[in-house]
Amino acid sequence: MSSAVRVVVAGATGRTGSAVTRGLLTAEGIEVVGAVALRHAGEPLSAHAGVPTEIRVEGDLRACLEREQPDVLVDFTLPSVAGSNALLALDLGVRPVVGTTGLADEELEAIRLRAQELRLGAAVIPNFSFGILLLGRFAREAARFFPKVEVVELHHDTKLDVPSGTALHLSEALAAAGARSPVPIHSVRLPGFVARHTLIFGGTGETLTLTHDSSSRDSFAPGVILAVRRILHVDHAVFDLAELAG
Ligand SMILES: NC(=O)c1ccc[n+]([C@@H]2O[C@H](COP(=O)([O-])OP(=O)(O)OC[C@H]3O[C@@H](n4cnc5c(N)ncnc54)[C@H](OP(=O)(O)O)[C@@H]3O)[C@@H](O)[C@H]2O)c1
Repeated sequence: MSSAVRVVVAGATGRTGSAVTRGLLTAEGIEVVGAVALRHAGEPLSAHAGVPTEIRVEGDLRACLEREQPDVLVDFTLPSVAGSNALLALDLGVRPVVGTTGLADEELEAIRLRAQELRLGAAVIPNFSFGILLLGRFAREAARFFPKVEVVELHHDTKLDVPSGTALHLSEALAAAGARSPVPIHSVRLPGFVARHTLIFGGTGETLTLTHDSSSRDSFAPGVILAVRRILHVDHAVFDLAELAG
């Protein structure tokens, strides 16, 4: 019987990180062995994840990774720290699975190169929801018939990056599938939203609208769990959940 995949979560106390940690704590074959955050360091993880666990949140990611030597680091922190967290993990032989969005192109390239050099799996995925994965598939098909398309993304007003990483990813995928480029992106930031992505395709006398809504951050956990399991069998950096989902 194979042993469990050992995971440390950075940003485990955040809005998304706590939902993802709850999913990881209850996933078969995965063991959460550490949780890292900043302001909530020292608190019991159970207070954030909402399920029983003995783990306490700690403040020093390097110390946690060196002590636990996990297989995977899951990161839902801030754009300003996620890139260096991923490089630190790779240098310590830990595969990063990064959900944090808004990383600079140079950081993504550095992660790609370091993963290639070390022949270690790494994933930087702007959206872990299976609904968005399918939206991307349907969008590529629609772009063959309707090349004129625009993206509208609506998020809660505390989201740091504009436009969303998912909107950028979708617009690149649409352009690669033959849509008129650049694909315009419209961003809305208002309280009350979690995340909505709408693609409007304009045709001759008709429009086609595809919308994905995240109503709960729990929707990201199944995709993270899939990535944690599959990243062990990859020796390079992956930037699209579709590559891991097959
Ligand atoms: N890929 C996806 O599917 C997906 C889905 C949703 C969101 N996201 C992205 O995930 C990221 C987090 O979003 P969120 O709304 O959950 O943010 P959030 O609620 O502000 O959570 C941020 C987390 O990062 C921790 N943190 C801050 N600075 C840190 C540091 N220096 N070292 C370690 N941990 C640190 C915070 O800990 P303290 O609060 O204890 O300081 C908190 O746990 C964003 O980039 C967002 O766009 C991605």
